Amino acid sequence: AGWTLEVVDEIDSTNSELKRREAPVHGSVLLAESQTSGRGRRGAEWVATPGESLTFSVALQPAAPRALWPRLALATGLAVAEALSMLGLEAEVKWPNDVLIRGRKLCGVLVEATEHMAIVGIGLNVRQAGFGGELDGVATSMQLEGRGDVPPEDVLSVVLAELNGWSQRIDSDFTDLIVRLRERCALSGKTVSLQASDGMHRGRVLRIGDGGELWVDTEAGCQRFLQADKVRVVG
Ligand code: BTN
Repeated sequence: AGWTLEVVDEIDSTNSELKRREAPVHGSVLLAESQTSGRGRRGAEWVATPGESLTFSVALQPAAPRALWPRLALATGLAVAEALSMLGLEAEVKWPNDVLIRGRKLCGVLVEATEHMAIVGIGLNVRQAGFGGELDGVATSMQLEGRGDVPPEDVLSVVLAELNGWSQRIDSDFTDLIVRLRERCALSGKTVSLQASDGMHRGRVLRIGDGGELWVDTEAGCQRFLQADKVRVVG
C-alpha cells in the first residue's frame, strides 16, 4: 500500500480522529506523540507516555466484504507479532489481538469501522524502562525486552509492511493467516477465563478455528467463541 503518514504532537485519540474525518483515504496513517484520551478495547482507557510509545491508526478500505472486516483484528495482532520477530523479539498473539512477549503485553490493537473504512489502531510500548502499579509484571516494552535501540520509525515501517500483507488475507487467503496465527498463539493448551456475551467461561484452549474463533474445552463442553473480552490465562 502507499502509506501517507501524518504526525501530530497531541490529539484525543488517533482512532477517534480518523473516524471523525469525512473520508479518510485508504493508507492514511495518523501518528500522535501523545493522546489525551487514548482508547482501549471495551471502552477502557489507553495510557501511553510520550516518547516511549508508538501510538498510531491506519485507515484501510479492505477489498474483502464488510462482514469479514472483524478479521482485521486478528490480522493486525499477527502483523505486529511478525514485525517484532523481524526485529529480533519473539512475540505471541493472545487471541484475539494482544501482542505478548514472555507473557507480557507489548501492544494493544483497537479496530473500529466507519461507514467506508476500517480504522486500525495500534499502541506499542517501545521505550518504557519499567511499568508500575497494576501494569507491573503485566506489560512490557521493546526496551525491557532488549531492543530499545530500534528507532521507532523502523518499528513503524516494519509493522506497516506486515500490516499491508496480512490485512489483505482476511478473505480467500485467510487460512494462511490462521496457520501462522496458530503458530504464534499464546493461549494454546492454556487454561483461560474469558468473558463472552453470555457471561464468564473457563476452560482449556484447544485451538483457533478456521474462522478465527477460539475453541475452549469448558465444563459445559467444547465451546467456540467468536468474540470475548478479558481473556486471562489462569493455568
Ligand atoms: C487495547 O489493548 O485495549 C487496545 C489499545 C489500542 C490503543 C491504540 S493507541 C492508537 C489508537 N488510538 C486509540 O485511542 N487507541 C488505539
